[in-house]
Amino acid sequence: MVEWPRWVRLRNDNHAGRFSVRDSRRNDYIEKARRLNIGRKNDKTEHVMASREQRFLGRKIPGALQVTKAEGSFIFDDRGRKYIDFVMGWCVGNFGWGNEVLTNAAAEFDGPDYVFPGHSYGPWTELAELLASISPGKLMKSFRATGGSEAVDIALQAAMVHTGRQKFLSLEGSYHGNAIGGLSVADSKNRQQCRNLLPHCYKVELPLDNEALERIDKFLKTEEFAAFIMEPISVNLGVLIPEMEFMTELAKLCRRYGTLLIMDEVATGFGRTGTLFASERYHLEPDIMCIAKAVTGGLGGLGATITTAAVARSMEENGSYYSTYGWHPRSVHVAIATIHYITTHQKQLLGIVNEMSEYFRSRLSQLRFKGVANHSIAGMAIGLELDTDDYASDIQAKCQRNGLLITAEGSTLLLLPSLNIDQAIAKQGLDILERCI
Ligand SMILES: Cc1ncc(COP(=O)(O)O)c(C=O)c1O
Repeated sequence: MVEWPRWVRLRNDNHAGRFSVRDSRRNDYIEKARRLNIGRKNDKTEHVMASREQRFLGRKIPGALQVTKAEGSFIFDDRGRKYIDFVMGWCVGNFGWGNEVLTNAAAEFDGPDYVFPGHSYGPWTELAELLASISPGKLMKSFRATGGSEAVDIALQAAMVHTGRQKFLSLEGSYHGNAIGGLSVADSKNRQQCRNLLPHCYKVELPLDNEALERIDKFLKTEEFAAFIMEPISVNLGVLIPEMEFMTELAKLCRRYGTLLIMDEVATGFGRTGTLFASERYHLEPDIMCIAKAVTGGLGGLGATITTAAVARSMEENGSYYSTYGWHPRSVHVAIATIHYITTHQKQLLGIVNEMSEYFRSRLSQLRFKGVANHSIAGMAIGLELDTDDYASDIQAKCQRNGLLITAEGSTLLLLPSLNIDQAIAKQGLDILERCI
């Protein structure tokens, strides 16, 4: 989809391929786009295309695609070129683009345009109950968010309210979204750019070994820490898979010292690492879990902060949270369909994930990269640590030119294919990767 300048964000009626705003307003926008020379009119569809000169802000990716279509494990650009997608919106499109069940749910939605956060809405209860039923441990109640960053922010607020404490502990170099809360508990380098992040955020340096546990023990025994937050398997740290002993001991330390354990499953949730949630791999019972991304397969913005009854009670008594667009009815409808889809196909889907994961592992171990290449694979979260940042970004660019989308984060290549990818397509993608290394 074209990303529109804010003022040209018209509601495009997908089925008719026409704008649904009234003609006069539409023409005003088109005229304004022409006058400011930031758009061009395509005579056939009357779309005001975003110009090559980018006016929206955000992540800058050299050679970014103008995406026009997404189907299964493929992305198409404005020149009609087809790419195998090993990014899938970075853990959003877990079930393939255009997944019939999800697109049908989105198309058939006929609920209200919007529900005010102070009103009640049956499907909110239904979704919250479904989330509680699939979440690990005693997670029971959901706060309604629009996405992952907001879900993390709510988690941090809830931890402070519940414990009455203000310190946080997390992994050095981690990523927990783009809001101030998430930036504060993530990579310390964020402080160089943003000088006024939250105070009292402490980081544990990798590796996650016994020494790290000793450092965590020292921090937590002060009983000043509201929460420890991490991804159970850190996709953002190149698919870092902690040892079982580390996670078990970490959970024990948190319990012992009254620090809440927050699992950020925004990326790992919904089957990405081979179990429904990565917390399950470690038999964790987090106090709070954050989810977003794949919960709608890309068909709506939605996040959730799922807490134990005790944490929710504290928020009800002493906290407050609402979000104007948190759990928009249309997104909720798709999220409910997603959860039904994943629970009814769980065995089959996770079976494919684990089978394909082995396929990727065996192919990747045969590739001859320049220098050292360590891979780390959990389900369909695949990290390849290379020697240099330049080498990783060269491979990524070369793959894109040859029809394969992967991401490069520093010296790490990340492959995040759809969970139900066909082996023949996976093979084609890996063949391209092999030619580009
Ligand atoms: C672990 C983790 N937490 C939070 C976020 C933020 O989610 P969002 O981009 O939906 O705000 C991300 C996004 O990549 C993430 O990977």
